[in-house]
Amino acid sequence: MSIHNLAAVILAAGKGTRMCSSLPKVLHPLAGRPLCAHVLELTRQLGCEQTVMVVGHQADAVREHCSDEQVVFVTQQQQLGTGHAVQCAAGALRDFNGTVLILCADVPLLRSATIRALLDEHRRSTAVVTVLSAKVPEPHGYGRIVRCDDGGVERIVEEKDASAEEKQIDEINTGIYALEAPQALELLARLDNSNAQQEYYLTDIIALARQACQRVSACVLADSSESMGINDRVQLAAAAAIMRRRINEQHMLAGVTIVDPDATYIDADVTIGVDSVIQPGVHLRGGCTIGNHCVVETGAVIDGGTIGDYSYIKAGSALEQASVGEHCTIGPMAHLRPGTVLCGHNKIGNYVETKKAHIGVNSQASHLTYIGDAELGRDVNIGCGTITCNYDGINKHKTTIGNGVFVGSDTQFVAPVTIGSNSLIAAGSTITKDVPADSLAIARTPQTVIPGWRKKQSGKKS
Ligand code: UD1
Ligand code: MG
Repeated sequence: MSIHNLAAVILAAGKGTRMCSSLPKVLHPLAGRPLCAHVLELTRQLGCEQTVMVVGHQADAVREHCSDEQVVFVTQQQQLGTGHAVQCAAGALRDFNGTVLILCADVPLLRSATIRALLDEHRRSTAVVTVLSAKVPEPHGYGRIVRCDDGGVERIVEEKDASAEEKQIDEINTGIYALEAPQALELLARLDNSNAQQEYYLTDIIALARQACQRVSACVLADSSESMGINDRVQLAAAAAIMRRRINEQHMLAGVTIVDPDATYIDADVTIGVDSVIQPGVHLRGGCTIGNHCVVETGAVIDGGTIGDYSYIKAGSALEQASVGEHCTIGPMAHLRPGTVLCGHNKIGNYVETKKAHIGVNSQASHLTYIGDAELGRDVNIGCGTITCNYDGINKHKTTIGNGVFVGSDTQFVAPVTIGSNSLIAAGSTITKDVPADSLAIARTPQTVIPGWRKKQSGKKS
């Protein structure tokens, strides 16, 4: 549902000093997405007509990672405070009439239902400014909501400017507001920086609105963990744990078994089918898609790609943008690299690595093998220890293996090379020339046996 006449300003110009990082704070990942992308997603869910993102510190990097047709970027050259940041955005909203939502790029856990409650309160009270507040057990560090005798919001006082008495207040400013444009934005011109931090505080807009006899209101957040701001990596980990629980609960309620949700790491944009089982220590990333009735065992890392129904990914396997068909068994400890396509009913066993490998239905490589730059037909059996020698130091070359080929153990295919269908490659062969269909190829040094050789040798020794 989109809300009529809604715009958003996302504050993302701050440095994030406490992250102690070369990466701007708002680009640190949470559940596989930069912090600011979670806030952008929220504006999308709410159907904001216009989103203005205020950037400053490492502006180019932030712009690059958040670029989206919906977003207008505004640069705040000097970080003179949250009020100044919104002033910088106001130019882009010159012609906008309606409600402007103020969001912070480092507050990633807010749900759209919470913002809808804020907007409902804003409309109900016909306020010009409505602040989202929260009651918290540890208000230290936050701005406090000072209420008047009638219960209305009088002003917000920052921790650094608060009296001992005001510091006792446990209702805090989340830093999220609904402002009515253009009236509220006009108030920004009256902000000053006569405060402890010598910053232009957005929080002062409440007192300014009251002085101008305009209505102000507050909406108290039901679940205060949603307003958690990320300032350091301790908070980042705490927020990631909350996000992880949310994501995992969604999957479980949709029919996925997650054996230990606190130890299962599923990014925000992953899809999992019903009756699949995800064991502890699994990482599912990069928008991967897992089908129905799959099992992903302990320690598997799946980054992008798709897994077909009824496939079984055994412990410790790493899959990167691999396309795995139905009824496949992978691992334990298999490595499927980009460009791997398994057509279905395949077995890729322990210590097998594949890369740019198209493998037909019902073909298998069960043990200790490298298959790179290769095209395998259906019903191919690759013996233990087979290697496609695809690289000559300069170029990569292709190995093509036809349907029904049986490859004996410890074979090397020196590419480029083609094996015709239904051929058999004898164990221990180094195949350097093409093999026609239905043939036997043996390419190994014939065995020499010298009877009694050992005995003679031990005779010499004594
Ligand atoms: C702010 C609020 C405080 C509230 C808290 C909630 C003010 C003065 N204080 O404090 O009442 O309890 O958030 O988390 O608003 N930013 C800019 N440009 C600037 C300054 C900040 O874009 O010049 C951005 C930051 O990148 C950040 C957001 O605004 O995303 C909030 O700034 P921050 O410095 O973290 O504010 P707090 O001191 O936490
Ligand atoms: Mg600050």
